[in-house]
Parts: sequence; C-alpha cells; structure tokens
Amino acid sequence: MKRIAVVTSGGDCPGLNACIRAVVRYSLSKELEVYGIRRGYQGLIEGEVFKMDRSDVSNIIHLGGTILKTARCENFYKISEQRKAYQTLLKYNIDGLVVIGGNGSLKGAGCLSKNFNVRCVGVPKTIDNDVSGTDICIGFDTAVNTALDAIDRIRDTATSLEKIFIVEVMGGDSGFLALFSALAGGAEDVLIPEHRFDIKNVCQQIKTGRQKGKKSWIIVVAEGAIRGEKVAEFIRKHTDYDVRVTVLGHVQRGGSPTAQDRIIATQFGYTAVDALLKGRTRCFVGMKNGKIVLVSFENRERLKINIRLYNIVDILAQ
Ligand code: F6P
Repeated sequence: MKRIAVVTSGGDCPGLNACIRAVVRYSLSKELEVYGIRRGYQGLIEGEVFKMDRSDVSNIIHLGGTILKTARCENFYKISEQRKAYQTLLKYNIDGLVVIGGNGSLKGAGCLSKNFNVRCVGVPKTIDNDVSGTDICIGFDTAVNTALDAIDRIRDTATSLEKIFIVEVMGGDSGFLALFSALAGGAEDVLIPEHRFDIKNVCQQIKTGRQKGKKSWIIVVAEGAIRGEKVAEFIRKHTDYDVRVTVLGHVQRGGSPTAQDRIIATQFGYTAVDALLKGRTRCFVGMKNGKIVLVSFENRERLKINIRLYNIVDILAQ
C-alpha cells in the first residue's frame, strides 16, 4: 500500500475534519501518499483529486463541516458511475480508499469494492446515529448537545410564559437525536419514528399534568415521526393551550465538534488507515460496547432504539 485517498460523502456533520486530519497525519507517518477527493463521490467520478500534506489539515480539528466538501450522489449506485470513480482511482494509482459517510455512502463503498475490487474502509458519520453495525457515529454527540442547548434556552421561555413548546429536531427516519436530547433536556414527551404514538395521548397527558399543577411543557419531536407544526395544530384544536413550535433544522449539522466527537473521529480515522495497512477491505470502523471494531459492509445489524430510555422520559415527566 503506497497511496490512499480520503473522501467525505453525504450530509455533513461535526467531526469530519478531525477524522480527515487523523487519516492524513497517520498515513503520512506511515510514509503513504495521501490524496483528498473533493465533493464526495461526485468529485471521485469527476476526478477532483489533490495531494495532501500535513499542513492541509493544520488547525481544522475544531471546525465543523468538511474541508473536502461533500455531496449526495444518488447516481453512484449505477455501475457506469462506479466505473468512472474506479478510473479516477486508477489514474492516480490509489490503492486504498477511506470513505467517511452514512448508510448510503457506506453502501456505495461496498459496491465499489465488490464490483471493482477497490480496497475500501469506511468510517460512519451522521447526526442521525443510524448506521447499522456501530453504536455511535461521528457527529451525533455534537448534534445532541446543540439540540440540548436549544431545549435549555426554550425551557427558560416556556417556564416564564407557562406555555407548551414543541421542539422539532432532525431525524428523517431515526429517533436517536430526539430521544437523547429529550432525555438530557428533561422533556415532557418525545415522539420518534421507531415508536408508535397517538397525539390524542399527548393531549391527554397535558390535561392530566395541568390538573396536577403543571404549567409548561417541552415536547421533542423527530422530523421523521411527525412535523412539530402538526402536533401544535392538534393540541391547539383539542385544548385551549397556547403552543409554540421551534424547528432546529440544519443548525444541528454545524458547529465545533464536542470533545467526544473529536476523540471518536480521530480514533475512527486512525483505525481506518491501520485497517487498510493490514490489508482489510469491505468493512468500516465502528464502536461496539466501548470497543473499536471493524464491521463488514455485508453483515450489519441496525442499532435499535433503547426503549428503556424512551420509557424513562415518559415516567420522569409524570
Ligand atoms: O444528516 C442527516 C439528516 O440530517 C436527516 O436527519 C435529515 O432528514 C436529512 O439529513 C436532511 O438533509 P438535507 O437537507 O441535506 O437533505
């Protein structure tokens, strides 16, 4: 192994730069040449490749976003596009690829390694924390803390004005971010896609709480479960309470990574290079029960929401 390349693919999240830094610096320490690929798989297809040295990753460990830029590339599942990507790798004599991405990007890396025998090791990243095969993804911890900061601020207003606040967090089809920020923020309720719910019960809980003297509520909603505005409309229609909605949106994807995200990103990047050096391919770095592991692209199980945590939010809110 002489030359490796690194690419960030899919939605951005905090901690990508810390991971890129680890990949570049560890590779150089092993006397490998390192190449950066700009704009995700699209850049790989179009040949946006440049040689990196240690100064390219100086002073980036604390920055959100990705210095390599990123993109979503639906076309990458087409074999014709994978072939173009493979040709780019051939042109630069790259013999190992680190793909930092979510489920879709890791699937793409699996296709590239299977169809063209490219040595690929993945690194999981997404604020949704829904990559099958690992307990944690780069970016999740920072996003939870960003949502938590917002919830804490909203609680000041909710308590002072004695109102109901719905906080909508990201999570297209995943409730990890909603559940963890609800738990940490002491939310009164949380609605996630993985757990069936009935908005009528939410109203009922509010009424029961009011009878016990409760005056304000924070309800965290994952965007993929139901939109915050819809919950608000329902509560307004069936009660006489005043409701406000805050949609956190892409605020959760940016910002300086937490210490935990930097440490995970650094270890994941380092381990990905180490895996390539040891001849591993078709796998990604993950964390299982506190240990760094390599997970095959093929055999991976989706991380399940811990229902115990969901129940705790509910019980503590009563
Ligand atoms: O990064 C994951 C995620 O934030 C999802 O929760 C969300 O549905 C999606 O990305 C939205 O991303 P974009 O606006 O970039 O398509």
